[in-house]
Order: sequence, then structure tokens, then C-alpha cells
Amino acid sequence: MSFIDWNDNFSVNVPLFDEEHKKLVQMTNTLYDAIKQGKGKDAISPLLKDLTLYVSTHFTHEECAMQKCNYPDLAAHKKAHAEFIKKVSDYMRLHLNGTLTANQLLNALRDWLIQHICNIDKDYAPFLKKDQTLFF
Ligand code: FEO
Repeated sequence: MSFIDWNDNFSVNVPLFDEEHKKLVQMTNTLYDAIKQGKGKDAISPLLKDLTLYVSTHFTHEECAMQKCNYPDLAAHKKAHAEFIKKVSDYMRLHLNGTLTANQLLNALRDWLIQHICNIDKDYAPFLKKDQTLFF
């Protein structure tokens, strides 16, 4: 059983972004699997490195699409993205200091993903789905 099961409640009705969100869920579930195998601590650093790269790409895609569609809350959404990138950097610092457990990271990622996708990301859905061919 996965830590987070993807379901239609997560969908933002933009196929590319749903796929990218599924990848973020999968990365979180991979940490969960590592914890179950007693390898959570070793999984933290690779996960945070992969996450930094992946969310940077994903956030750029979303911000580009929102800009192209004149999404009115672009600035607030960009701010939320920047805050998460900083948060990931903070997690790495805490990990290197030995003050972040794999379970703490797992729960923090789950909370952020669900909150961000189901609230902030879903808000752009009505604006973006009309113009998907014009995103990039
Ligand atoms: Fe899917 Fe705004 O991140």
C-alpha cells in the first residue's frame, strides 16, 4: 500500500500537470517505502536533491502556463513555489545537521503536496484548461 494514493480529487484537469504531480506523489511514496525497509535516513538526501530539480521544472511549467493564460493570482502562486523551494533547502540543512527524521520529512511533504495541489493549484484549473495548446 502506498503512503499517498493518487485519486481524481488531486486532478487539476491539465494532463501534463497531473502527470507531474503524480511524479511528486511517487517520490514521496518512495521515501515511505524506504522508511518501511529501515532505509529512511539514507533516502533523505537523494530525495531532496531529486525534489529540488523536479519541482524547479514543474514550477517553471506551471508559471509559464499561468502567465500565458493571464492567470490573475500568478504572483501569489509564484510566491508559494519560491517558499517551497526554500523549504526544501531548509530540509536539507536540517538533515545535514542531523535534526530531520525521514518521518518528519515524509509527513511534511504529504501535507505540502495535498495542500498545494488541492487548493492553490486547483485554483488555476478554470483559467488554464481552455488554452492548453498555448502553454509553452
Ligand atoms: Fe503543482 Fe503549483 O505546483
